[in-house]
Amino acid sequence: MYPTRFLFGALCAPLLTTLAACQPVGQHNSMPASTQGLETPAKNGARIYFTGVSERGTPLSHTGGPDLGGAMMGGGMMGGYGQWLTCASCHGPQGRGGKHLMHMRVMDAADIRYAALRTMPELKGRQRPYDLADFRQQVEQGRHPDGEEVKADMPRWTMSEADLADLFAFLKTLPE
Ligand code: HEC
Repeated sequence: MYPTRFLFGALCAPLLTTLAACQPVGQHNSMPASTQGLETPAKNGARIYFTGVSERGTPLSHTGGPDLGGAMMGGGMMGGYGQWLTCASCHGPQGRGGKHLMHMRVMDAADIRYAALRTMPELKGRQRPYDLADFRQQVEQGRHPDGEEVKADMPRWTMSEADLADLFAFLKTLPE
């Protein structure tokens, strides 16, 4: 799966200004205009959020996620749909989440703008703000800050520390 994904990155990276060339992989895989002014690290975070590919060249993968009736989810390429599963696929272009239909199923994704994360009820009683460690626990292990398991619709992700930090930085740039 990585070679294909790498190829996607290699093909698209030089084409950033003409991303339309990569359109067949799905509508969620281009970067919206609102991300153009971003600087590193949020810039790479946005890249990961919208395209599932890191500028650092480090691989990202996920397991689990919604059961789409046998569709292949594991490697990022959803079999038969020709589309990558990215954060934006479920949490939307502005990180607001919400309910939407995904391949005939209702997907109820959380609002993951930083403003929502730092006020989530699962933080109750804590003495420190929502931080990168909380974010890592949710993204990698699917556990809320209070230890509760996140719903299975949220895939469990594997990515480098640096990529995770970039993603977190990007979420902090999303308008409240
Ligand atoms: C297939 C859909 C899907 C994809 C793709 C997805 N998520 Fe989620 N995510 C969800 C759902 C659904 C929830 C809510 C789970 C729950 O309510 O228990 C969630 C919850 C979360 C939460 C916890 C928020 C909270 O308030 O509890 C975080 C953080 C998160 N996702 C980050 C990400 C990131 C970062 C990515 C990309 C690397 C991503 N998600 C990709 C579906 C998805």
